[in-house]
Amino acid sequence: MFKSLTALFAFATNVYAANFKRVTCPDGNMVIDVACCDFFALMGDLQNNLFDNQCGEDVHEVLRLAYVDAIGFSLENPSAGGGADGSVLIFPDVESEFNGNEGIGDSIDALLPFLSAHNTISAGDLVQFAGAVGLTNCPGAPQIQFLAGRPNATAPASDGLVPQPQDSVDSILARFADAGFSPDEVIALLAAHSIGRADNIDPTINAAPFDTTPFTFDTQIFLEVLLKGVGVPGTSGNLGEALSPLPAAGELRLQSDFALARDPRTACTWQGFINQQQAMSDAFAVAITVGRPP
Ligand code: HEM
Ligand SMILES: *[C@@H]1O[C@H](CO)[C@@H](O)[C@H](O)[C@H]1NC(C)=O
Repeated sequence: MFKSLTALFAFATNVYAANFKRVTCPDGNMVIDVACCDFFALMGDLQNNLFDNQCGEDVHEVLRLAYVDAIGFSLENPSAGGGADGSVLIFPDVESEFNGNEGIGDSIDALLPFLSAHNTISAGDLVQFAGAVGLTNCPGAPQIQFLAGRPNATAPASDGLVPQPQDSVDSILARFADAGFSPDEVIALLAAHSIGRADNIDPTINAAPFDTTPFTFDTQIFLEVLLKGVGVPGTSGNLGEALSPLPAAGELRLQSDFALARDPRTACTWQGFINQQQAMSDAFAVAITVGRPP
């Protein structure tokens, strides 16, 4: 018994050694590709000097930026954008003015110093890596895969590629389909709103959370978005605010989340994540890593 287990282990080790040549970085970290070495310093820098090792506002904003950068891509019209190419950082003044991008300026400003300080790392890799590292600070979040190697963006994305909360479900699902995502994947991705707070939708509420636990990557968002709306609508319902489920908690509900939670095409998947932490976290991790190379 022991003997065969040992043999199996030895065999497995040989396979590993044969397929992956290990490299030792100057700082002593072991990696399978030398291109990974510089990411250790970037990780430490981000954790210590931006995120404070917490799942706070900077993590939330950077995760949203990773999404906004990536969705700037169209199967229908390949010249419309390069996807997760860091165009948000290379053309910061262009994309922060786009519809749907309200408020991304803070995370752009937060990341730009890291782009100059870590100049072997491309803008696209920085944005996606920062999102992946930041997520590790959020209780309940999956560790998502990160693949390096995105070239620097050469052009900004086009306006109109980022869905807005007042858009119809038809239009949101069509936009995501054009970026390569199924309706189920859209709902899985929206687990990100579990760690969201809006600053730019309703000017009467600052940092209005989407659920009661905005610092935990949990399934509350899927439950609370389904609650009956109460209270007074915000002052700017035209920007995509639905009646709040829990106005006393200062909570804000995006019209798009409200509609996707109830649409026949997406309601089952939405409801299915309630109290299913593992399933939700796994589905998010898969959906966020299916993106195509730029
Ligand atoms: C139907 C698609 C989506 C719409 C309409 C939408 C819209 C919004 C809006 C309006 C905000 C509030 C921004 C503010 O006022 O500061 C927000 C926040 C956020 N969104 Fe989305 N979003 C969508 C999909 C996604 C996806 C797919 C992700 C990530 C995978 C994501 C991640 C986030 C995060 C993390 C925040 C919180 C930012 C913060 O707390 O500062 N969103 N979203
Ligand atoms: C990407 O562009 C930034 C900003 O111009 C630059 O600092 C960085 O060195 C470039 N990175 C790579 C890997 O080309």
